[in-house]
Amino acid sequence: MDKKEMLYEGKAKKVFKTDDEKRYLVKYKDDATAFNGVKKGTIVGKGAINNKMSALLFKILEEKGIPTHFEELISDREMVVKAVEILPIEVIVRNVAAGSLAKRLGLDEGTKMETTVLEYCYKNDDLGDPMINEYHIKAINLATKEQLEVVEEYALKINDILVKFFKERNINLIDFKLEFGLYDGKVILADEISPDTCRLWDLKTNKKLDKDRFRRDLGDVEAVYEEVLDRLK
Ligand code: TMP
Repeated sequence: MDKKEMLYEGKAKKVFKTDDEKRYLVKYKDDATAFNGVKKGTIVGKGAINNKMSALLFKILEEKGIPTHFEELISDREMVVKAVEILPIEVIVRNVAAGSLAKRLGLDEGTKMETTVLEYCYKNDDLGDPMINEYHIKAINLATKEQLEVVEEYALKINDILVKFFKERNINLIDFKLEFGLYDGKVILADEISPDTCRLWDLKTNKKLDKDRFRRDLGDVEAVYEEVLDRLK
């Protein structure tokens, strides 16, 4: 598959057109940002790790009935995906209070919650990805009612699958962010699933095995990315 012009460069990935108009090529970068790009850095080897980890998790989800954009890995840091039109919504799934939810609600990080929490953010860097709800999504046409129902159903099913999968590898899936796209008019899972987009804590020690090590200057960043991929393989 031939790589053609770049369609989009995000903070962690580049997306290219290919000679097949139904396929894009995604190249994962080592660049890391936090706080809407205010903090910038490099996590050496991250691109290759996130590419491999996303591929592995997309395959598992596909096997369990979740349609994803993943097609194939073509190099260390590149995958071919279906050419989706991304819905401008970030879907956040939370099992344990942490990060911005802990701050907003005045909870200690690690506080257990009675149910899983679903949140939505409007994917808009200029606005700093503000949190929105189902009404905003329908009111400003970010997705239809039917698309949103599918997004919610998939997000909760993905959570069940991933919580179990990580737990078997001694990792507690605290929270994560998903993005969905439209392909042939249908909602499918897109973007990535990696330590950049998940909070992953060691099941026994609660050691943070994710991008919070970069966001909060906790050190050992490269090592924990590698460790997570090793535990998943
Ligand atoms: P938060 O607690 O900062 O809102 O993050 C919730 C989850 O979403 C966490 O697993 C990290 C992930 N996330 C992203 O993938 N991209 C983002 O831009 C942000 C803010 C969070």
